[in-house]
Amino acid sequence: MQKNIYLDYAATTPVDKEVLREMLPYFGEKFGNAMSIHSFGQEALQAVDEARGKIATFFNATPSEIIFTSGATESNNITIKGVLKSYYSKPKNAKIKPHIITSAIEHHCILDSCKAVEQEKLAEISYIKPGKDGVVKISDINNAIKTNTILISVMYVNNEIGTVQPIEKIGKLVKKINAQKKETDFKILFHTDATQAINYCDCDTKKIGVDLLSMSAHKIYGPKGVGILYVKKGTAIKKIQDGGDQEYKMRAGTHNVPGIVGAGKAIELVQKNGQKDAKKIQFLRDYLIEKVLREIPHTMLNGSKIKRSPNNANFTFRDVEGEGLLLSLDMEGVAGSTGSACSSGALSPSHVLMAIGLKAEQAHGSLRLTLGKYTTKQEINTAVQKLKTVVVRLRKISGSVLEDYYSNK
Ligand SMILES: Cc1ncc(COP(=O)(O)O)c(C=O)c1O
Repeated sequence: MQKNIYLDYAATTPVDKEVLREMLPYFGEKFGNAMSIHSFGQEALQAVDEARGKIATFFNATPSEIIFTSGATESNNITIKGVLKSYYSKPKNAKIKPHIITSAIEHHCILDSCKAVEQEKLAEISYIKPGKDGVVKISDINNAIKTNTILISVMYVNNEIGTVQPIEKIGKLVKKINAQKKETDFKILFHTDATQAINYCDCDTKKIGVDLLSMSAHKIYGPKGVGILYVKKGTAIKKIQDGGDQEYKMRAGTHNVPGIVGAGKAIELVQKNGQKDAKKIQFLRDYLIEKVLREIPHTMLNGSKIKRSPNNANFTFRDVEGEGLLLSLDMEGVAGSTGSACSSGALSPSHVLMAIGLKAEQAHGSLRLTLGKYTTKQEINTAVQKLKTVVVRLRKISGSVLEDYYSNK
């Protein structure tokens, strides 16, 4: 029987065997609570500290700047809400509503956090639209900055179209603007959601100039339910969850020790093999894009071809509906994803594709295929063959005039 083909690595990745091997003892004999002072606890704490050390090295940070969370969603929530909490903890700030800049193509956990604080009248938010290529312009960020701007949050790599945002340039801009400010002025903090970037982009926090950075271990062949928030020493941020004193009092709750051990190993593997894996993945991804655009007419690639993460391909097929395409492909044994989301029973088009100027029907006809380190050329060949068959069939069903194209071929 043909094995199913997984092309949805941006949604999640399988746990690497080496990662799993390191995690297993912490589900069994090494089960201690890292906050207990007895030997069981100390054994767990040592494992947490080791993982923290590996992660700090990867980000060119110090271990105390690494906070373990339950995922990028939580890290992003802490960022938006914790920075505001710190702002309002100073009575002199109460009269001035702070301003946050983000992009219109962020993951929902950033956008919805921003909308929540906007609704509570805690902040005003500017949502910067990217260009048609899916990349935010540095000049647009610069123009949006005001005297009350306290935070800029722009994702490193977009999860739908894979476009890479100019994070290092934004970091330099923020540094320049902060340097011109007086002691009493509001300083701007810079955060990036690097969830989709860890495998492929330079995440040296000093080099890219971020104060805060979020990620999830399950996108890098680590376990689900473990996230990281890098918080530069001295950053004005407060915890948003009350409870224990874990994580330098920034994030209460018993440590997910096996998960943290897994996150540490997963990062270590990215550091060791990431560049080699990325090269192979990009080669296959370019092969996939060329093959799809050549063999399936009336298809376009969404987002910049160049400023793009090595593993991402996102297509729009004319006269094809994305959900139908996804389900048909799944029945053929190919797993992909579409940006359309089901909200209140109706399909709403992807906010990312709409932000780069697609019409709703084009956004509905989109398919995201994301590759990973286990993807093979044979899988790509089979997937494109199946995709072609399904697109032809769906165009026929939809009564597309493009059907003539196929019958005349
Ligand atoms: C860019 C980005 N940010 C945040 C998240 C949320 O990650 P998690 O669900 O692991 O918290 C994702 C997950 O798809 C993502 O792609």
